Amino acid sequence: MGAEAFATVESGSSKVPDHVAIIMDGNGRWAAANGVSRSKGHRKGADAVREAVEGAISCGVRYLTLYAFSSENWNRPPEEVTDLMGLLRMYLKKEVRTFAKEGVRLRVIGRRDTLAPDIRGLIEDAESKTRHNSRINLVIALSYGSREEIVMAARSIAEAVASGAETADQIDESRIGRALYTEGLPDPDLIIRTSGEQRLSNFLLWQAAYAEFLFSPVLWPDFTRETFTRAVAEFQSRDRRFGARP
Ligand code: IPE
Ligand code: IPE
Ligand code: MG
Repeated sequence: MGAEAFATVESGSSKVPDHVAIIMDGNGRWAAANGVSRSKGHRKGADAVREAVEGAISCGVRYLTLYAFSSENWNRPPEEVTDLMGLLRMYLKKEVRTFAKEGVRLRVIGRRDTLAPDIRGLIEDAESKTRHNSRINLVIALSYGSREEIVMAARSIAEAVASGAETADQIDESRIGRALYTEGLPDPDLIIRTSGEQRLSNFLLWQAAYAEFLFSPVLWPDFTRETFTRAVAEFQSRDRRFGARP
């Protein structure tokens, strides 16, 4: 790839998005278009994760969040769910070693109690082994649903108030932010969705308040680091106002 592809991205410039989140969509359509099984599509999709991580590192993005499996994805046919969980196991086992080498710190957000115990173990292991890495924070949203996340936050705050530990008037935006799975993460600056669909599908509803959106027709398995770099360049051309300027 030519240096040209990166020419518009000034790494370290204040306009590089600090946090990019991606809705990785289109594995099934990629499989259909290429005459292969959905399972193969998901496998190719898992390979594309590396492209996104490398793209993010080369642009100087500090947080990359990937939507890998939604709360609603449990409603897919059981064979597909089993297949996706198998792929996740393989990914977690294989990638931990490369994460360590590349300075990737992993964090998983979502409802862990819905995942198989061995997968939970692999996640804990990967998070703990990568906790000192600081080149990039890779956040994987797994069994994640934003409304569910907000419900859980409301419940935990309600419990704190009911117990007398906190008062209702102490609840503010920052308190709610701290009760979400994304506690401690900056809000996403840029949300990319592949496959041409233009919706959030229950992803980061609270956190996306001032995110820029980019909908790409690329099917997730075809996503490359150049696709990432182009998205960052598009982000850099946007005028973010946060409601403060007329
Ligand atoms: C994204 O690809 C992967 C997951 C949601 C797990 P899809 O499986 O949704 O692919 P399409 O949307 O059917 O093409
Ligand atoms: C969103 O994609 C979830 C992930 C990419 C993990 P879906 O394919 O599940 O979303 P819908 O069903 O098209 O809204
Ligand atoms: Mg889809």
